[in-house]
Amino acid sequence: MRKFAAILLCGCVSAFGWGGEGHSLVARIAWDELTPAARVRVTEILGSGVTIQSVASWADQVRNQRRETAPWHYVDIPIDQPHLDMARDCDKGDCVIAKIEEFRKQLRDPAVQGVQRREALMFLIHFVGDMHQPLHCSDNKDKGGNDVHVQFSGRPSNLHSVWDSGLLGLMGKEDDLLPVYAHDAAKHEKSWAKGSVSDWAEESHKAAQKITYGRLPKVAAGDQVSIDAKYEKKADPLVKQQIEKAGVRLARVLNEALQ
Ligand code: ADE
Ligand code: ZN
Ligand code: ZN
Repeated sequence: MRKFAAILLCGCVSAFGWGGEGHSLVARIAWDELTPAARVRVTEILGSGVTIQSVASWADQVRNQRRETAPWHYVDIPIDQPHLDMARDCDKGDCVIAKIEEFRKQLRDPAVQGVQRREALMFLIHFVGDMHQPLHCSDNKDKGGNDVHVQFSGRPSNLHSVWDSGLLGLMGKEDDLLPVYAHDAAKHEKSWAKGSVSDWAEESHKAAQKITYGRLPKVAAGDQVSIDAKYEKKADPLVKQQIEKAGVRLARVLNEALQ
């Protein structure tokens, strides 16, 4: 029974957004770019000694107990559509775009205090990361790639899981990646910090059209796709850039909300 529960749990993990490493990188890049005032506010909210990277995956840990939060991690923009349509893709405001707007508004409001303030910050840190995973802003009637069976690194997997954590996991250790990512993020900070949350979602969706699905080897329906070196050569730079952009934009959102 216990084993069965563990298998069930494992099956769900694939839909959870960047894995722990991706979310931690986003938070650490953002921390580098926070103003001194925003850093003080963040520390007041989380408590001294609690870092933003240590809470960056909290939203995934509560996702099973707090069922209503499951759709907050993504927005299903159809892969064959050119643009986001909030009425079509974000029914009842239950999507990552609407939730980022909601929680940034709560953080700006000094009347929002205590647990509500802390959770708003933790959700925000997580969701700005999630929306930069291209499959968290796209859907091909396949649950954001969760239903696409692939062969990756000698094992069966699914496309969503490969993008959440598989590719990044083969790109190096977090502590080795961070200095490079933080440096490149700082270099592009000015241009990447621009735009709205919807703009960032459309950019993520476009990347999914061009690379995540666009570069996928064509196979007969139902056959397993192989994620090969040729695919990784296109995918890895996108994973890197999306994590860097997420870090820059998380810093912008927090600097604005917590000045
Ligand atoms: N479930 C349905 N669509 C999804 C998506 N785009 N990402 C993660 N989980 C999903
Ligand atoms: Zn998530
Ligand atoms: Zn995911």
